[in-house]
Amino acid sequence: MSGATTVQRTDGHAVRRAWFPHEERMGVLEIVSTEILERGWIHTIRDVTAQAELLRLKEDFLLQVAHELRSPVAALSASLDLLHQDALEMPREDLQKMLATLMRSARRLEHLIENMLDAGSIEAGTFQVRATPTSLRGALREAAEVVQHALDAKAQRLVTEVSSGTDRILADPRRTSQVLANLITNASKYSPESTAITVRTARIDGSIEVVVSDEGPGIPEDERPKLFQPFYRARTAREAAGGVGLGLTICRAIVQAQGGDIRIESGPGRGTSVHFTIPKARELAEEASGA
Ligand SMILES: Nc1ncnc2c1ncn2[C@@H]1O[C@H](COP(=O)(O)OP(=O)(O)OP(=O)(O)O)[C@@H](O)[C@H]1O
Ligand SMILES: [Mg+2]
Repeated sequence: MSGATTVQRTDGHAVRRAWFPHEERMGVLEIVSTEILERGWIHTIRDVTAQAELLRLKEDFLLQVAHELRSPVAALSASLDLLHQDALEMPREDLQKMLATLMRSARRLEHLIENMLDAGSIEAGTFQVRATPTSLRGALREAAEVVQHALDAKAQRLVTEVSSGTDRILADPRRTSQVLANLITNASKYSPESTAITVRTARIDGSIEVVVSDEGPGIPEDERPKLFQPFYRARTAREAAGGVGLGLTICRAIVQAQGGDIRIESGPGRGTSVHFTIPKARELAEEASGA
């Protein structure tokens, strides 16, 4: 154990915290010493590592949210400033570029707020999806539109291979495209420029499996099980790109609510593949005849 470093005294109690090595971080023991009528002391020792870790995650999260809000808000206010001064004299092309930046910044803010609201309803147990027979290609098209700018900015290619018999799914179309957009965004954010991101589909029993693969650095094994926890971000990701660590938590909630499963395959230097399943819808002919 490394020594006790803080001591707080409240009437009759002394609270000390001691740190000890625990996995890759330090664990925390809380030792409460209570004096009983000058006859001696009772010492209670509690392992408060989990609470300390939660507190640290929350602090990290608040900092990260503030950080994530800063750049779109700064972009919004800079563009609005310019528009306010020069909108009437500005060439049409510049005006259009500026409006596109404004729209992107507003979307980033919307996206962040939606993610936080989704995470709140997952936590509260009220998260719901509405599954209907729908098209996987349609959901993928919508997701591709959302991520196009991010891909262009890093000169990355999106390769889609929707194999035959895998288009009709029983899923919430908007939520499915949200899962795809989240996974493709991760693939883009954490991979180098000019790489390819591939979305493939396959039939597996009564389900459709979708795999989103990238050519990025991969994720070390010890971090993989934690990635679906809210607010968790891998060590390397924190410097590589922005984010608050909610995307995968939300993807898993959506996939599971639709009756599917999600898992990550990855290894340092091998890229990352996220696999998830969606129940297959009955064929259109069956639907029409009500079979
Ligand atoms: N394709 C990937 N390659 C490497 N690391 C990844 C990949 N996808 C996810 N990760 C790791 O998993 C962590 C959690 O991902 P998640 O999408 O939940 O959060 P985020 O991308 O950090 O933030 P956001 O809430 O904006 O999505 C990331 O911070 C990153 O460390
Ligand atoms: Mg993400």
